[in-house]
Amino acid sequence: MKGIVLAGGLGTRLYPCTRVTNKHLLPVYNKPMIYYPIEALVKLGITEIMVVTGGNYAGDFLKLLGSGKEFGLKHIHYTYQEKEGGIAEALGLCEHFCSGDSMVVFLGDNIIQGNVKKGYSRFLEKGARGAMIFLKEVEDCQRFGVPEFDNAGKLLRIVEKPQNPPSKYAVTGIYMYDSSVFDYIKKCVPSGRGELEITDVNNFYIQAGLMDYEILDGWWTDAGTFDSLLRASQLVQLTGANNDH
Ligand code: DAU
Repeated sequence: MKGIVLAGGLGTRLYPCTRVTNKHLLPVYNKPMIYYPIEALVKLGITEIMVVTGGNYAGDFLKLLGSGKEFGLKHIHYTYQEKEGGIAEALGLCEHFCSGDSMVVFLGDNIIQGNVKKGYSRFLEKGARGAMIFLKEVEDCQRFGVPEFDNAGKLLRIVEKPQNPPSKYAVTGIYMYDSSVFDYIKKCVPSGRGELEITDVNNFYIQAGLMDYEILDGWWTDAGTFDSLLRASQLVQLTGANNDH
């Protein structure tokens, strides 16, 4: 099993702070943002981790994370996304790294109170085939990918940033995929915002009947806007992150 943290993009929603650094290096309470998704992967027992970064400050990741020793790792892999081509494009850069293995993907600005061990076990029980997403009930669904269910609770599709959300859940930035994700990424076309959307990839898995989901326990937040960055710091100060249940 491979672990991937996606930390590319320009972080324009955090200008002017991100004019002089990468969003994922900004502090969330007492640690740089990127520490949280790396620690979450390490807590799942994953030892082979790739960080995808981009923009002008990629070298700072190396200075900060080095070989990964601080996380108990022997080595961290790095790669570089040349443009802000979207989450799916960033993930597509990891095909060679994964070399046929399945993977757990964290968006670099997603932080959780607990862990995803339950969903991970279910994914492993299925031989780590297909895909697994993690959902969380939120009040501001319009900011996220939102799942639509039928009356029996079957996942029908995901709508990215809908004006009229079809449910109260957000699709969090934590994903588990088998290696066929790279074939689905190749089928993606740029969205209205000019990006290869991870929501399109997830919809391919849903259409193929290969998507499973789990409702996340504990709080979840992104940290990509000033409000969510502040909220993330306050939540981490209150309870810590990546806790065991
Ligand atoms: O946080 C969860 C949400 O993340 C999901 O609900 C949405 O379905 C998903 O599209 C995404 O929405 P955002 O619009 O909030 O994503 P954002 O552009 O902020 O990117 C999130 C992270 O993904 C960012 O911290 C780094 C990584 N990323 C993003 C882009 C656009 C890359 O590595 N490369 C990229 O080109």
